[in-house]
Amino acid sequence: MPETDSPIDQNEVRPSSPDLPVRRLGFDDLPDCMLLAEDRDWSREERKWRLLFDVGEVYGIDDPAGGLAATVASTRYGTGVAAIGMMLVARRHERRGLGRRLMTHAMKRSGTSCLWLTATEYGRPLYERLGFRAIGHSSAYTGSFRARPSDPARPVSRPMTAADLPAVLALDAEAWGAPRTELVSRLPAFCASMRVVEGPSGVTAYGGAWRNEGVTVLGPLIARDGETASGLLSDLAAEAEGPLRLDVEHRRPALTGWAEDHGLTRAFTTTVMIHGDDLPGDRDRLFLPVTVALG
Ligand SMILES: CC(C)(COP(=O)(O)OP(=O)(O)OC[C@H]1O[C@@H](n2cnc3c(N)ncnc32)[C@H](O)[C@@H]1OP(=O)(O)O)[C@@H](O)C(=O)NCCC(=O)NCCS
Repeated sequence: MPETDSPIDQNEVRPSSPDLPVRRLGFDDLPDCMLLAEDRDWSREERKWRLLFDVGEVYGIDDPAGGLAATVASTRYGTGVAAIGMMLVARRHERRGLGRRLMTHAMKRSGTSCLWLTATEYGRPLYERLGFRAIGHSSAYTGSFRARPSDPARPVSRPMTAADLPAVLALDAEAWGAPRTELVSRLPAFCASMRVVEGPSGVTAYGGAWRNEGVTVLGPLIARDGETASGLLSDLAAEAEGPLRLDVEHRRPALTGWAEDHGLTRAFTTTVMIHGDDLPGDRDRLFLPVTVALG
């Protein structure tokens, strides 16, 4: 998601969009989703879209001229929380009310007591009008990983096995305060690597790294403290291919510090926003999302 996207004149009054219907999208719409992303200078990110179609609901508005005019993805975790992402309106259709219509549709369909998203500077005013409130900021860090002499000499974690899945699901559900079974069960196949940290009474942390358009994304990561999270990150980064990306909330100085110490730089910042009830769960243990579109 770049920050350089140049919107049209904010003061221009544009003809409102015709009452184009919202529909649920399916895998057949994937090529048009990627074209729409490109229209907004976002990467195509086919694997991420596929995961969103697998675990969430993707809605869109067809462009009468062909392709898609707008998309949004909503992923429900039980009745507690839904993550909203991939809110995109084609440049030629923006500031005509499509974004609001689509987001309102996703909000009505979610049925959860809380909605969570991270907003670009373009989305934030719209979301504020719809009742979302800012709770923090998140920055994407990107670059090539440089190991540090201060990194743990030996891994603090081990590769996750199929036998760890129940413990990992339980840990994730405690941190999120909502079951993310469909998503987390898919991660071992989706991720290039997954690792766990084990304490005397079982798994205390888990993390994953996955390939996206030539980049390895670090996340999810759930741990009991910053030191464990940083050690697990170093383990994941040490075996990752190519440049890295991680999306870190600013309330996580241990991780922003880890990123800067290991050669990564801040690429762009978004606002973390919620709607409805406060977030459930134990957010202190939640260090990295799978992607900001999913939490
Ligand atoms: C953010 C984004 C989705 C908004 O979509 P949109 O269709 O332009 O949204 P809307 O038209 O419903 O509302 C946007 C603004 O246009 C205004 N607007 C709506 N109809 C209008 C009209 N006919 N004439 C002029 N302005 C109008 C709205 O009041 C709103 O104003 P605000 O920014 O002060 O709140 C779109 O700009 C986009 O895709 N940006 C790039 C990708 C991105 O950043 N996505 C958000 C990720 S969190």
